[in-house]
Amino acid sequence: MKQPFFLSRRALLKLLGALPAFFLLGSRVGAAPLPLTPDVPDHDDDDPTPSETEGPYFKPKSPERRSLREASVTGTALVVTGRVLSTSGAPVANALIDVWHCDAAGEYDNSGFKLRGHQYTDKDGRYRLETIVPGVYPGRTRHIHVKVQAPHQAVLTTQLYFPGDAGNARDGLYMRRLEMVYKAGEKEKTGLFDFVVRA
Ligand SMILES: [Fe+2]
Repeated sequence: MKQPFFLSRRALLKLLGALPAFFLLGSRVGAAPLPLTPDVPDHDDDDPTPSETEGPYFKPKSPERRSLREASVTGTALVVTGRVLSTSGAPVANALIDVWHCDAAGEYDNSGFKLRGHQYTDKDGRYRLETIVPGVYPGRTRHIHVKVQAPHQAVLTTQLYFPGDAGNARDGLYMRRLEMVYKAGEKEKTGLFDFVVRA
């Protein structure tokens, strides 16, 4: 005859002690999934915005203005807005933002300052640029050139890209990290981008 399975008194007490925890865990699993392991923080947002080539069409001494729309400029209205932040996430006030881009036909104004302008961030590090969607020219995807400079710091020269643009995949300079994010529900097409600089 087989020996009946036998638990010592100590083992039995141990088992009974574990039962509430077992049922508690069991009921949680049944009711709702256990929370996932928290995400490991990703510090990408704190990394400085990557620099990119200036290209051949930068002109110094652009006019100070928040809107590049003037009578001779036609195209789809675009607002580009966001903040300049330090690598520790603090807003950078009075940072220079100098922008230049081609017109809707893909041409840069190299004799004047059409679609060129600079501005300074406000006390919360915010900027807002009113312009038009630039066209494209051979060899490049749609982009906006920008120089950003926190007070008394080095100039960051970079470019911004448009999400979902067909030319992005074919452009050797394009970086996903430099894509604007479209803000839904705005009256005008609005691209958001926060610059992160050493400040
Ligand atoms: Fe360009």
